Amino acid sequence: MSQPQTEITVGLIGAGRIGASHARILAERVPRARLAVVADPRPEAGQALAQRYGARSVTDPLDLIGDPRVDAVVITASSDAHTELIVAAATAGKPIFCEKPASLTLPDLDRALGAVAAADVPLQIGFNRRFAVDFRAAHDAVVAGAVGTPQLIRSLTRDPGLANPAGVPPWTIFLQTLIHDFDTVAWLNPGAEPVEVYATADALVAPDHKASGLLDTAVVVITFDNGARAVAEASFSAAYGYDVRAEVFGSAGMVTAGDGRSNAMVLRDAGGLHQGTARGDVELLGESYVAELAEFVSAVREGREPAVTGHDARRALVVALACIESVRQHAPVAVATMTAAARPGVR
Ligand SMILES: NC(=O)c1ccc[n+]([C@@H]2O[C@H](COP(=O)([O-])OP(=O)(O)OC[C@H]3O[C@@H](n4cnc5c(N)ncnc54)[C@H](O)[C@@H]3O)[C@@H](O)[C@H]2O)c1
Repeated sequence: MSQPQTEITVGLIGAGRIGASHARILAERVPRARLAVVADPRPEAGQALAQRYGARSVTDPLDLIGDPRVDAVVITASSDAHTELIVAAATAGKPIFCEKPASLTLPDLDRALGAVAAADVPLQIGFNRRFAVDFRAAHDAVVAGAVGTPQLIRSLTRDPGLANPAGVPPWTIFLQTLIHDFDTVAWLNPGAEPVEVYATADALVAPDHKASGLLDTAVVVITFDNGARAVAEASFSAAYGYDVRAEVFGSAGMVTAGDGRSNAMVLRDAGGLHQGTARGDVELLGESYVAELAEFVSAVREGREPAVTGHDARRALVVALACIESVRQHAPVAVATMTAAARPGVR
């Protein structure tokens, strides 16, 4: 048996908000990883982030991908850049971690997954909730049969702020936000596949922007092939801070995960009880980002498939696209069947 590579040299593509968080984690928190290069077409952003961790910076991500000293690539660029970056990294034979959504359309995603399969490189998607301790414990309890047969599943995302409603691309609530919840409810209903969705959405937070395509509030009912029903909901205006929760109700009990608190501290004073809530995702779910990147680096070192794959990305995207169709039609929409034939070579 070959020994795992001792240290993985990582190149990070995209020096924006989540890129800065992932760069810090790779540089400071992930064992046997070294952040060596940062790529961003905005030179000042790439340079500033790279310098913080003693890494180099480039403006062309292809220079990073083609660098023989880079063992693995972490993609934190804007979502519309993901497909081409996955294809380029796979073609260069590099293991890939890509933030969600892996692509925004099914033809793009299948092209990316085709390149990954042809190169036989690991691909992990940034569905970080799977790495949050309480979500993982809930999943393990479901797998162990602790709640019996799953019947009702729930997942929600409440984002604290809609700073710039005009800058939100149409359908973001499904393609970028609820995509997490679509992965979560499938993961919490192991072995089952979604067969139908009924989605309703509106602009309740910024109604003036509805005409230009903004939807900031949504509820989706998902029917699975084992009969379980899931409800996924999202809002872009949680006044109290980022809030992510899930629940599985089954024939023998119920399990819940997430409670929106940044930690379990309770302050009692003359004003009553006070608890901390996290303003943003990287505060509330910080340790899940560490765990998912540690999983990626371990998978690369050990030459194995990571815990979250292209198949998971495809399932969640198919559900998101069906939701868009459901909103357009004001009707339930069948989810394209995820047969093995429909996903040839997806690693
Ligand atoms: N898993 C999560 O919880 C989570 C949270 C936030 C963001 N994300 C995802 O991470 C990605 C980035 O989000 P963000 O909030 O950091 O966005 P952002 O706008 O802050 O940053 C995006 C960065 O990508 C750069 N970029 C654009 N095209 C590029 C290209 N072709 N090559 C290299 N860099 C390029 C931009 O210059 C910018 O610096 C998105 O796909 C988003 O959905 C995931």
